[in-house]
Amino acid sequence: MAYRFTDLLPADFADRSLREDVRTGLTADPKWLPPKWFYDKTGSALFEDITRLPEYYPTRSERAILQTHAAGIVRSSKARHLVELGSGSSEKTRLLLDHLADGENVYTALDVSGSALRQAAESLAGNYPGLRIEAVRADFEQHLAQVLRDPLTGRGAGGRLVAFLGGTIGNLRPAERQVFLGSVRAGLEAGDAFLLGADLVKSPKVLVPAYDDAAGVTAAFNLNLLQVLNQRLGADFDPETFRHRAVWNEDEAWIEMRLRATRPLAVRFENLDLSLVFAQGEELRTEISAKFTRARLEQEFTASGFRPDGWWTDPGDRFSLSLWRPA
Ligand code: SAH
Ligand code: TRP
Repeated sequence: MAYRFTDLLPADFADRSLREDVRTGLTADPKWLPPKWFYDKTGSALFEDITRLPEYYPTRSERAILQTHAAGIVRSSKARHLVELGSGSSEKTRLLLDHLADGENVYTALDVSGSALRQAAESLAGNYPGLRIEAVRADFEQHLAQVLRDPLTGRGAGGRLVAFLGGTIGNLRPAERQVFLGSVRAGLEAGDAFLLGADLVKSPKVLVPAYDDAAGVTAAFNLNLLQVLNQRLGADFDPETFRHRAVWNEDEAWIEMRLRATRPLAVRFENLDLSLVFAQGEELRTEISAKFTRARLEQEFTASGFRPDGWWTDPGDRFSLSLWRPA
């Protein structure tokens, strides 16, 4: 258990921040919720099941790129410190940790899911006895400046690698993505680098099944959000009355995850003094997963003060890893 756990989320984070999101999102038209609420203990475990589905190519493709290129990427970055945002199980991260430069190495894992962080940190501590592991429960949309300023992440040591894998950048909306990139950029010092795993635009014949698999695991993951609302806010959703949908939005180049009410229904949030109705067929938007092109990423990153320093894809050109430096 040689790791340190720091919780930057206030004790009432789940309640207070979720309440605000529910009030804003579920009273909007169309109804929507931000994706970070998927990841309670059940949700984090279901996501790990998703990564092993035959239809869900992103994890396998990203791992293939890392297997071929991680050594070169990490060595060229000369990093001794790895900071990972939305680290989840930290499984693919091992391929990066294996190549950190000699000296004292630090791995800072940042995630909103305390259960995922603890499991990952415990397992890494067993396999990397010399590594200092800092598990930080935090929101990468709120605490990035604070975390990247902290000496614990190797600030001032030069050559930090900040990684954001799994295509999670696609779960941010364009305006949020811009704010996020700005805060990553502001937190980087000369000599640091940002490593991004981003999913690429491709045929909806491949994309849609990745988010609507035959075994129904993604459906269970999406529907679990309603259980989170029931548990945390005393809502009375019956998940059986909703159906999972994954829709490719060609204009926006993103997959939309939705939950569709199969009949008219009313929901009451006991802890929120809020009642809602869903019309039959009305959909709650729970997640987007944007897909990128190299040109699009270069344009957005350049606009945020980065310069490109490397681009790698898997043999099927499904997924990308890219390295960015302060311009
Ligand atoms: N990086 C892992 C996990 C990707 S799933 C992989 O590639 O497999 C997305 C992860 O981001 C989850 O572990 C989730 O808990 C975390 N996450 C989502 N929103 C977050 C936020 N706002 N702040 C911090 N972590 C977040
Ligand atoms: N970052 C992952 C992605 O966009 C998250 C994810 C995978 C996801 N499958 C999902 C989120 C299903 C919600 C529902 O690919």
